[in-house]
Amino acid sequence: MASIALRNVGIDFPIYNARGRSLKTNVLRRVGGHIEGQGSGIVTIEALRQVNLDLRPGDRLALVGHNGAGKSTLLRVLSGAYEPTHGSVEIRGKISSLVDLALGMDAELTGRENIVLRGVILGLTFKEIEALAPEIEEFSELGGFMGLPMRTYSSGMALRLAFAVSTAVQPDILLLDELISVGDAGFAEKSKARMQQIVEKSRILVLASHSPEMLREYCNRAVLLKEGQVVLDGSLDEVLEAHAAG
Ligand SMILES: Nc1ncnc2c1ncn2[C@@H]1O[C@H](COP(=O)(O)OP(=O)(O)OP(=O)(O)O)[C@@H](O)[C@H]1O
Ligand SMILES: [Mg+2]
Repeated sequence: MASIALRNVGIDFPIYNARGRSLKTNVLRRVGGHIEGQGSGIVTIEALRQVNLDLRPGDRLALVGHNGAGKSTLLRVLSGAYEPTHGSVEIRGKISSLVDLALGMDAELTGRENIVLRGVILGLTFKEIEALAPEIEEFSELGGFMGLPMRTYSSGMALRLAFAVSTAVQPDILLLDELISVGDAGFAEKSKARMQQIVEKSRILVLASHSPEMLREYCNRAVLLKEGQVVLDGSLDEVLEAHAAG
């Protein structure tokens, strides 16, 4: 069974070289996380504060908030990329994050080697990766480039490969930072179709987006983040309305 439980989760980013800088611009700003310790000389950005969240199968959660509110940070906590500074995170189920698509890929390794590397990071066994590799190669349509180091790829080519690996397995829990569209026209069409498929089949979806249309299409509940805190947890309409109001 898929589930997510966050209890009083906090993420702090200490900024070591901000000492002594004037951060007066903190006043009158709507974007960014909470900046702490301005008088003391050591600055900490509290990207998430006291976040509580319970998700069960069927939940399709929208993350709403201004730039810097903490949406991507929350997705990274859920993906396991960030260890929380405070609180606890409990996740059950196979999770797939399309937040940092190319995380862990190495420019010096070939496309084929990167499939293995990325597969391991995604939690697959070598056997599973071996079984999936032909399909991944076919989907990314990189032909002979699959045997060349990734540094020889254009950014679109690298994304094709990262997308193909990251979406090769159907997750129980899917994490998305905006609905990504990858590559040129032909590939974008194909990647959109695959994305739609894994979104529909996932039991829990967490989608951060600035597009109300996108959120309305995919989500059935929402939280509003402000300076790293969940200030509203409710229906999509309530949250979008509160967000639009300020
Ligand atoms: N690696 C980091 N080091 C320091 N501060 C960070 C880091 N990553 C994020 N932050 C800070 O944490 C806060 C939350 O950032 P986050 O990327 O989660 O925002 P977001 O809601 O995804 O914004 P956007 O809508 O712009 O994508 C911001 O104040 C940002 O400056
Ligand atoms: Mg973000």
